[in-house]
Amino acid sequence: MKILVLGYTGFIGENLFNRLKNDGYDVVGCSRSSGVDLLDYKQVYNCLKDTKPNVVYNLASHGGSMHYVNSYAAEVFSDNLQMSLNLYKAINNLDPTIKIIQPFSNCSYPGKSDIQCEEEWLDGDVHPSVFSFGNSKRSIFYLSKCYKQQYGIRSVNILFPNTYGPGDSLDPNHTHALNGMIIRMLEAQKNGENQFVVWGTGAPIREWAYIDDFIEVLIRCLSIEGQEYPVNMGQTKGHSIADSALLIKKACEFEGEIVFDTKYKDGDPMKVVDGTQFKELFKDFVFFDHYQGILKTVEYYKERK
Ligand SMILES: NC(=O)c1ccc[n+]([C@@H]2O[C@H](COP(=O)([O-])OP(=O)(O)OC[C@H]3O[C@@H](n4cnc5c(N)ncnc54)[C@H](OP(=O)(O)O)[C@@H]3O)[C@@H](O)[C@H]2O)c1
Repeated sequence: MKILVLGYTGFIGENLFNRLKNDGYDVVGCSRSSGVDLLDYKQVYNCLKDTKPNVVYNLASHGGSMHYVNSYAAEVFSDNLQMSLNLYKAINNLDPTIKIIQPFSNCSYPGKSDIQCEEEWLDGDVHPSVFSFGNSKRSIFYLSKCYKQQYGIRSVNILFPNTYGPGDSLDPNHTHALNGMIIRMLEAQKNGENQFVVWGTGAPIREWAYIDDFIEVLIRCLSIEGQEYPVNMGQTKGHSIADSALLIKKACEFEGEIVFDTKYKDGDPMKVVDGTQFKELFKDFVFFDHYQGILKTVEYYKERK
């Protein structure tokens, strides 16, 4: 089996690429910085023609912070869609037996849902704070459904919660939420600060996926024939922001105090994915322990300080 990882320089892509290589898979990667711009149909077509994959992981993405996806809403929406439009068209023109595996972020759920159940995924608008990004992922689902309907192209779509772990950017402004908190707390420790400020009350509950679990699921998707309507990856288990901050404090051995700046508004009280269908799909899946995941991430950033 030949595997192509699109976006193999990103947080998810790099971790997946390394794991596939270590496991002995025949894998190649591409991304814009390695010379393939997926916004250009010809480059996508040539990349597929040259690499001849049986499976493509579609991990190339244009995203960023809430502020970023709002400021660049048009580019974020159209780039994400355009990359996938090019991918499906090129696969159809070259070899419709190629299977696509692609993760969607759970921010594509309706803004109002607290426990996110698959049946309700499209049952309401994406939250305005992530409208462009969330809707671009929903659009890729519609695309996969139409290509399956007309041309029989197989896609495995899966919804993931916010992810943390080693291998993400070192810049707190470009990393994902939990990793950002770890970077900032290590920074506070380095500067000898005696307080770490969490924005808001710390009460909101969030589910987090540890990177190794994310990658394990992507690899297990190799044995799934097709799954257009996505299943959640998750365990219906959340942690309050305050609890996560305390776990990070323990893992960093930060001696200062955690304080909550309630001038900042909290987001939704709860965002947890319903893991019932996931349990049925991957019966023996064991999730990584949250504190151990934080410890490993702290080690990763400490080594790079
Ligand atoms: N990270 C999470 O918490 C999370 C959670 C759920 C789902 N997901 C999904 O997982 C996927 C990957 O996320 P990520 O966090 O790994 O993203 P990321 O770190 O931002 O990486 C994005 C990747 O896309 C590539 N890329 C962007 N524009 C490109 C273009 N025009 N042509 C070619 N390559 C391009 C980048 O390549 P260059 O750097 O070379 O430009 C990079 O390799 C996304 O679909 C995301 O929605 C992520």
